[in-house]
Amino acid sequence: MQRNLLTVDDLSRDELYQMFELAAKLKRERGNDNFKPLAGKTIGMIFAKSSTRTRVSFEVGIHELGGYPMYLEQNKMQVGRGETVADTARVLGRYLHGIVIRTYEHSDVEELASESGIPVINALTNDYHPCQILTDLFTIYEFSGKIEGVKLVYCGDGDNNMANSFILGAGLSGVELVIAAPEAYKPNQELMDKFPNVTWEKDPIKAVTDADYIYTDVWVSMGFEEEKVERFRELQPYQVNSELIKHAKPEVKVLHCLPAHRGEEITDDVMDSDKSIVFDQAENRLHTQKAILTMLFNS
Ligand code: CP
Ligand code: NVA
Repeated sequence: MQRNLLTVDDLSRDELYQMFELAAKLKRERGNDNFKPLAGKTIGMIFAKSSTRTRVSFEVGIHELGGYPMYLEQNKMQVGRGETVADTARVLGRYLHGIVIRTYEHSDVEELASESGIPVINALTNDYHPCQILTDLFTIYEFSGKIEGVKLVYCGDGDNNMANSFILGAGLSGVELVIAAPEAYKPNQELMDKFPNVTWEKDPIKAVTDADYIYTDVWVSMGFEEEKVERFRELQPYQVNSELIKHAKPEVKVLHCLPAHRGEEITDDVMDSDKSIVFDQAENRLHTQKAILTMLFNS
């Protein structure tokens, strides 16, 4: 059966915990295993937006699982010159065994999945970034040993792909999620209303009080550069700095999906402090995605 990861809604809570166990095992045994579930498989990696972590961790991960990662720049493909997404999908489905895609419109990824007949993994769209959120939940699980009852505060742009993914991720995992964001960039109400463990708080200090984890993301996501001035003005009070994090629990940990724009959404003193676990988090992209690939290709 074709299994996709378009949003975290494609996984059940049981599968989330299976994924954690597998990611932890792959992390422990990296380099010492002979685990090759992708042997003989070619996975296309279509990227229309920039990437460091996602591209490299997927290429390395697919290679380590025995597969061949084929990097494809979207603007060098015919789809960049007007071939339809559906026709592209029908062709790629005849060559490849799976597709990882980073692009703008989420509906294009849905169409690729429905027309290609092979597993499709969303590596970020304007609306969702499921691989990142699954990594973040795994990282919290690794550091806290649990997810339910943990207070996670996401500070900043409440209306982007990370915030949307966090809302779905909170629904899946049971983490207590508070989104600290201004009215102008408040979280999607319809999505939030589905989950009692998700709240929106305009006051950043109130939001981070007693937080176990504080998370932030860039104020200007890829594709939204023309809104930069307005976004900076609205989001400045939500900067994750040493003053703000004083209101959290003393043992609070700080997360960021990266890339960070130091001095904007996060300050150097927080990013480089012992409270920051951003590089452990970035490393976990590799282990988590290897677990996701294994699960999608073995069901
Ligand atoms: N966090 C993340 O997706 O990073 P890249 O944009 O570098 O892939
Ligand atoms: N919200 C950011 C996430 C980058 C990983 C963006 O879309 O640019």
